[in-house]
Amino acid sequence: MCGIVGYIGDKKATPILINGLKKLEYRGYDSAGVATFDSNCINVIKCKGRLAALETKLTEDMPSANMGIGHTRWATHGEPNDVNSHPHISQSGRFAVVHNGIIENYIKLKDFLQTQGFEFKSETDTEVVAHLIEYHYKGDLIQAVIECVNDIEGSYALGVICSDCETQFVAARKDSPLIVGLGKNENFIASDIPAILEYTRDIYILEDKEIVSLTKDEVKVFNILGAEVKKEVYHVTWDATSAEKSGYEHFMMKEMFEEPKVIKDTLSPRIVDEGITLDNVNITAKDLENIDKIYIVACGTAYHAGVVGKYIIEKLARIPVEIDIASEFRYRDPLISDRNLVIIISQSGETLDTLVALKESKKRGAKTLSIVNVVGSSISRESDYVLYTWAGPEIAVASTKAYNTQLAALYLVAFNFAYKKGYIEDSAYKNYISQLKELPSKVEEVLKNKEVIQKFASKHYNAKSIFFIGRGLDYALSMEGSLKLKEISYIHSEAYAGGELKHGTIALIEKGTLVVCPVTQDDLIDKMVSNIREVKARGAVVMAITQEKNASIDKVADVVITIPDIDSLLAPVAAVTPLQLFAYYMAIEKGCDVDKPRNLAKSVTVE
Ligand code: F6R
Repeated sequence: MCGIVGYIGDKKATPILINGLKKLEYRGYDSAGVATFDSNCINVIKCKGRLAALETKLTEDMPSANMGIGHTRWATHGEPNDVNSHPHISQSGRFAVVHNGIIENYIKLKDFLQTQGFEFKSETDTEVVAHLIEYHYKGDLIQAVIECVNDIEGSYALGVICSDCETQFVAARKDSPLIVGLGKNENFIASDIPAILEYTRDIYILEDKEIVSLTKDEVKVFNILGAEVKKEVYHVTWDATSAEKSGYEHFMMKEMFEEPKVIKDTLSPRIVDEGITLDNVNITAKDLENIDKIYIVACGTAYHAGVVGKYIIEKLARIPVEIDIASEFRYRDPLISDRNLVIIISQSGETLDTLVALKESKKRGAKTLSIVNVVGSSISRESDYVLYTWAGPEIAVASTKAYNTQLAALYLVAFNFAYKKGYIEDSAYKNYISQLKELPSKVEEVLKNKEVIQKFASKHYNAKSIFFIGRGLDYALSMEGSLKLKEISYIHSEAYAGGELKHGTIALIEKGTLVVCPVTQDDLIDKMVSNIREVKARGAVVMAITQEKNASIDKVADVVITIPDIDSLLAPVAAVTPLQLFAYYMAIEKGCDVDKPRNLAKSVTVE
């Protein structure tokens, strides 16, 4: 949901801002803009469209300033057009602001500012911030920003420059991510680490309601009362190339090919002496006795990982698990108490609905365990326990490798809890652990099948509607396969539990309808074969995904994509990859922008 970046230093700001925005474009790409401080005045250049449009505009008129802020937008208030693009300037042109988040009380603030003579040009909530800072400004930019954020309700990551301050700019955050990059003779702000990784690895992670002042030589952080806060430097250890395409045509493909490595990175540090350790997740057998129910709460792909989590934790650890979409959970007055564990799953660690669900669970006394990819993200910092998925930066908007690592983390939790509760014996535990270790090589094998999937996609990319059906864990997989397809290929698609299809939806199956069937659950194969026969009898074209040992499913399905033989319980980790590849190739055949699908953004920090 919008990316912001800011620079102050000895170098020219604009190329650094554009470079940073390129790394943040996954957060939104409706429009983009920069504001720089040039010869005593603020110069704003912005336009509707992708960053490339802004770059073209800048080649005609490249500012030479050493300080500036930039923005790439995912529209919330006001359609994507030039006027609604960020940065927004205040009435006198003295202040320019970039913003990620939503100002919930902006109408009230706008009404007030209008009574004070401020005129609004855009339909955005952000313009209120620019005018409000001007309203509060009495010669001290930090103080004006503090007073402004005190008036604001909602979420914000802000970058502010002022034409009175040639050598300083100010930023602030609440409920939207913002980091500060600490350089030599230069400093930065950004919504996410990859935007500045080329220049520095030392960062401050800002907490809610912190305000930061940056000059080229100094960074000072203040709390909302204006008192200076001492921050710890976080040193980024991962490689800048993790956030580059490295020769792949798309980030999505690169990230799918990283799956074997990141699954291994997520599993191996936690498999010690043929046992499972869960980092700082200090939940003992006695604690587990006191947990009546586990809730898993997440959005989108992370939610689908949670559905797998529900099946496996219930099956192995025999604890009831309720799975919830974060935006529903937070408003349904959930029955949470100190006898519950809430597992939060999030790649970004910043999804607002998920973050609020976490806070709500804590408020009601539950212990919280988050499975998160981004180190230092809001969700990781708010949780009692954190289990990081070591997927590295995920840039493609459609989540792939993060999902596989979320599953890996959930298996660790399920096996660990089940063993502690005495539901699995030593030998079974060891057997599962050795199978976990084999997962990376199994996914590697799956990736070798990509041409078969590509060929199938090249024949069927004109499909108008595609159904995904599965049973048990394959139903959870079907949901993810369907979402992946929808989001990047724009083909209508639905996921159904195999047995549920005949209760209505089968009416939609006609000659040529494409049906995708993961069939990886040994005890449900016969039932799925019956479901395949049912849709085939109505003219469907079926692509099945199954273990090599079940390849004879080709007697009923039109095409069978095989994955290596793998225990049914662990199959989702390897069986999701063909579904991701299928979505990818369908989108490519249709000429879609797979890394930046329309209307979407990577990190959803608004409700
Ligand atoms: C789909 C996708 C989204 C995210 C969802 C939650 O490919 O990426 O559905 O899974 O927005 O995001 P996180 O995991 O960052 O909380």
